[in-house]
Amino acid sequence: MDTTPSAPTTGAPAPGAPNPHASADEVEAAWSDTKLAQVLYHDWEAQTYDEKWSISFDERCIDYARDRFTAVAGESGWPYGRSLEIGAGTGFFTLNLMLAGVIDKGTVTDISPGMVEVAKRNADSLGFSLDGQAADAEELPFPDESFDLVIGHAVIHHIPDVEKAFREMFRVLRPGGRVVICGEPTKRGDFVARRLSRLTWWATTHATRFGPLKEWSRPAEELDESSRAAALEAVVDLHTFEPDELERTVLRAGGVNVRTATEELTASWFGWPVRTFEAAVPEDKLGMRWRMFAYKSWLRLSALDKALTPVVPKGLYYNVSIAATKP
Ligand SMILES: C[S@@+](CC[C@H](N)C(=O)[O-])C[C@H]1O[C@@H](n2cnc3c(N)ncnc32)[C@H](O)[C@@H]1O
Repeated sequence: MDTTPSAPTTGAPAPGAPNPHASADEVEAAWSDTKLAQVLYHDWEAQTYDEKWSISFDERCIDYARDRFTAVAGESGWPYGRSLEIGAGTGFFTLNLMLAGVIDKGTVTDISPGMVEVAKRNADSLGFSLDGQAADAEELPFPDESFDLVIGHAVIHHIPDVEKAFREMFRVLRPGGRVVICGEPTKRGDFVARRLSRLTWWATTHATRFGPLKEWSRPAEELDESSRAAALEAVVDLHTFEPDELERTVLRAGGVNVRTATEELTASWFGWPVRTFEAAVPEDKLGMRWRMFAYKSWLRLSALDKALTPVVPKGLYYNVSIAATKP
């Protein structure tokens, strides 16, 4: 039996030590307690998160983070002095934006203590000093007007009360400060991506069960673990967004100069099946040439998608980003 100290089983877990080995009782409780699920799921995946999502702190990810930020927030005001990130995970967005020269001084927060620990470790290995603490984005533990910029990447779709979280972000911003949240799933983009992923998973795991492709199958227990993780993902993924609706939420929370940008149409139709395929086959089957092919194809399709923005409705793209200013 797991004797790791438990997180509370109801309500928002208090910031504490990482808990990568949840007990069976905790996992059971997490099915009906979304914030506990966030902590358990993300503490569990923190140590392997960078590998799973191909996160690095080099030109590839610096370009990605900077382009995503610039697409919705432009290039003025760099470097931002004091930046706070919510749901920072392992520090992907803050650290790459620091490397890109967008941010001067970074603070990271995440509801998962395990993620904050890895973010600090990543900062250390880059030689950056980074403040970090476990915190729920709906109740930020900072005084009013403490930051010039609040950022997030792929996080607000996990937060139960999105408007409350934006109110908190505006509270901790100085007047004239900016909120920039990037990489959130749109309603229709997510619908298509999930179906393509499911189809890819089904086709790959069936095609590699027998015959000549059997050596491309992953051991059953590993596949089971992936399926269980996918099931818990359904508990932690709470929202998808319509860009216009998201803009109205941010206006209600007190933002001005609100704008959204959407990205990845064909790139997501390609990227999600590729990622799913990579998860379904043994890692050693896919070499560097495959990875370069996947990455370069994704880049080309992203460029095509950018060119299509004048003619394709915003809501069809996979990712939505939003920027706003505190009056
Ligand atoms: C999909 S991950 C993204 C991590 C990182 N921003 C990135 O792009 O790599 C979402 C993160 O949000 C965190 N999270 C979920 N709910 C949260 C909440 N209420 N407050 C703060 N962080 C939260 C999770 O622990 C997780 O690390």
